[in-house]
Amino acid sequence: MRVEQLVLGLVAFARSAIAAPAPLDLVVRDGVSADDCPGYEASNVKKTDSSITADLTLAGDACNVYSDDLKDLKLLVEYQSKDRLHVKIFDKDEQVYQVQEELVPRPKHGETPSADAALEFELVEKPFSFKITRKENDEVLFDTSGRQLIFESQYVGLRTSLPDNPNIYGLGEHSDPFRLPNVNYHRTMWNSESPFIPTNANLYGSHPVYFDHRGDKGTHGVFLLNANGMKIDLDVTESGDQYLQYNTIGGIIDLYFLAGKQPAEVSKQYADTVGYSAMYPYWAFGFHQCKYGYWDVNMVAEVVGNYSTAGIPLEVMWTDIDYMDGRQDFTTDPERFPIGKMRELVSTLHSRGQRYVLILDPGVHFKEGYAPYERGHEMGVFYKNADGSDHLGVQWAGTVAWPDWLAPNTSKWWADEIATTFSADNGIDLDGIWVDMNEASNFCGDIDCNPLDNQGNPPKVGHDPRPNTGRPIPGFPDDFQPNRRSVTRQDNGKYKGLPGRDLFVAKYDPVNHRGNLSGFTIWTNNTNADGTKAYDTHNLHGHAMSHVTYDAMLARRPGLRPLVLTRSTFAGNGRKATHWFGDNESSWEHYRVSIRQMLAWVSMHQMPMVGSDVCGFNGNANEQMCARWALLGAFQPFYRNHAEISSVQQEFYQWPLTITAAKKAIDTRYKLIDYAYTALHYQTTQGTPMINPLFFLYPEDSNTFGIQHQWFYGDALLISPVTTDWSESVTLYLPKDTFYDYWTGRRIEGLGANVTLNHVSWTDIPVHIRAGTIIPQRANSANTTAELRKENFVFVVAPDVDGKAKGRLYIDEGEKIVQEQTTLLDITWDNGHITVGGRWGYPGLKGESITIERFKVLGQEEIQMGSLGEASTFDPATGAVTVEGSWNLDADFEVHM
Ligand code: NOJ
Repeated sequence: MRVEQLVLGLVAFARSAIAAPAPLDLVVRDGVSADDCPGYEASNVKKTDSSITADLTLAGDACNVYSDDLKDLKLLVEYQSKDRLHVKIFDKDEQVYQVQEELVPRPKHGETPSADAALEFELVEKPFSFKITRKENDEVLFDTSGRQLIFESQYVGLRTSLPDNPNIYGLGEHSDPFRLPNVNYHRTMWNSESPFIPTNANLYGSHPVYFDHRGDKGTHGVFLLNANGMKIDLDVTESGDQYLQYNTIGGIIDLYFLAGKQPAEVSKQYADTVGYSAMYPYWAFGFHQCKYGYWDVNMVAEVVGNYSTAGIPLEVMWTDIDYMDGRQDFTTDPERFPIGKMRELVSTLHSRGQRYVLILDPGVHFKEGYAPYERGHEMGVFYKNADGSDHLGVQWAGTVAWPDWLAPNTSKWWADEIATTFSADNGIDLDGIWVDMNEASNFCGDIDCNPLDNQGNPPKVGHDPRPNTGRPIPGFPDDFQPNRRSVTRQDNGKYKGLPGRDLFVAKYDPVNHRGNLSGFTIWTNNTNADGTKAYDTHNLHGHAMSHVTYDAMLARRPGLRPLVLTRSTFAGNGRKATHWFGDNESSWEHYRVSIRQMLAWVSMHQMPMVGSDVCGFNGNANEQMCARWALLGAFQPFYRNHAEISSVQQEFYQWPLTITAAKKAIDTRYKLIDYAYTALHYQTTQGTPMINPLFFLYPEDSNTFGIQHQWFYGDALLISPVTTDWSESVTLYLPKDTFYDYWTGRRIEGLGANVTLNHVSWTDIPVHIRAGTIIPQRANSANTTAELRKENFVFVVAPDVDGKAKGRLYIDEGEKIVQEQTTLLDITWDNGHITVGGRWGYPGLKGESITIERFKVLGQEEIQMGSLGEASTFDPATGAVTVEGSWNLDADFEVHM
């Protein structure tokens, strides 16, 4: 397509009215249907040992269903590795948008001879279609012959057939079932602020990758590297044929086929494709507390103090936008969060071994005299309207401009603002940054909204004087005192009414649940500094912001692993950031949803350090649910209690049951941190997920394929929380395998059947150890992770039916990106003999322990009394043998029992 055509097309869209959602899949232009499209014909096919290229030409008259058909395309097929096949279909002139390499670096073409590859590409020249087959068993994984390829200026459609009742997972971000429905199911990818995380809707991020699990025939993955708005349909044709269909409103077809064949191998191959997750600091596994509506620095300190008083460990304290002066980034409210006292707060937290994280938003207050805006404007970092003025919208601060994260000076400007505000010398010495609202959310959601009406400061929260109580806060200097409670809710009602919007509307409607493409976000007709359009890059905004923030944080704290939590993401975001599941609700349903979301994020989207707002964000939590959620969250990677401004206080110390549940949960979580940290190390270096859906470990057991309320924390601990509303019983699935009750040590034979446990109290959560594993634990928990590292290790051995087990332990200093001394151990148990060996290096700095004080071997009921070594004890009630001693983790050793 010529440039003039593109411009004319865009102008036409700018003028067009806001389209009603198109009927699914078809008929838009003058009675033309996608079924009338001519498809393409391949010619000039050239093959090398590891690649195929061809020209694709429109095979008849253009159908122009949703926009203009592109006449000339190109096909590129690359056997990139034994397990990865790349298929790219793009316009001959290469004008169509392709995701910037700097945002999603491409994997290398490893030039694998096709003969060595696990997958095979078959080309049908006329009409063009292709098929991907797993060579080993001739299983057809992808076949596009069921419908013609359509490649238009604002619509690309590609369909593959699937087997009946397929097991398809992934395609985040969503809150739908973990195993996706197959019929009349549609996944929209258009990043949007999504209060209450509705089902069947696009949420904050886009991850166009799916896993297709076919039991003993293998699992494979398919990743479409396309950031444009899209809708993916899972459905059956009228004649009953199952299919998956991509419908994008732009971009190219850039598919990566990942051969598996085990589910976890697909995870690894996906990490090879989009990048491995960042490694997180050890302290990130601690418990985090946040709330929108902690109205001043006293209240923040009070919450920290209350945790101590209740005897519940708290590792990281967070502050939401409340700390800002008028909700402006890089400011602190002079009365409620004066900088001096903020500094005192952080130094007190640090002296107690605790951490502090603050939020930043992308909407930068458009206001004369507001220095961060003025500096940014001077450096040309903001999105511009066609006339060169800053493109404006409305966000927390009032009228805002948005950084164009691709503009040449944006990273420097952002890093400088962060370095100044959050410097250790005279700013706030932050440990991590939370980036929010970066889809980007715009409170100007409809056509009458005028951002310039909002020049004044927004209402402040809790800005009225709040006399303090005169009571000290334990652990804080005397000038911190709790104050009286009340919250003023922010009224955003006035931010409505933007006149004269000139929106771009795609004729193919991907069905954004927030309305039009430009609804509640930055207008899609904006041009990025590199000439690309927000229409194409919308889904990359939060991804880019979080990566720029990671780089800024790294510059601010050289050498230390940044913790950057982002709301909006795109495929590959895990390289530099992590995610929480957004604005859920304090409801039993969202307690359950958090499990299925976690399963997909960790194992399929390669973002391991994730979790939900524990006890729920919107609405009011209650004692029982919050107690259950405290326990559930402890076995999810990122563990943060967070609530909305108008919600009741839901810190764990608020109710007796939550105090008991949280103490137990955190105590257990902390003892297991080294086990989880080891699992994270493996995910970040080898791509093997630290959370395993059941079918990852039992891929041939079809009972596991749809399980979404149980999971393996690491690969050894099966977590089966009570998931029924207000219930004290749970029906859980135990695969055909041997398990041990984590709490009692008793052996249980799994029969590949459901088991119902009644009387699971509000402060309990069923956990089972999978036989054949060894779990490295700390002997005791502690108040902070720094203290925890002083505790000795206990290795819990769970032998399988053959009397064997194995485990792993990774130890490093916990915070540095480049570690000079690390220990990586393989631990094995073989019928009475323990062997510990591997790479030794980490010496146990700063009084930390690297000593094992105990081995506990479960399931030894048959043991002959008297056969035990001197230091061994046998507990007939549980069948566990314990061997006490002192083994230093600095050289290989064996123990015989
Ligand atoms: C929306 C975020 O999702 C939520 O977590 C946060 O509390 C509010 N913004 C206020 O910053």
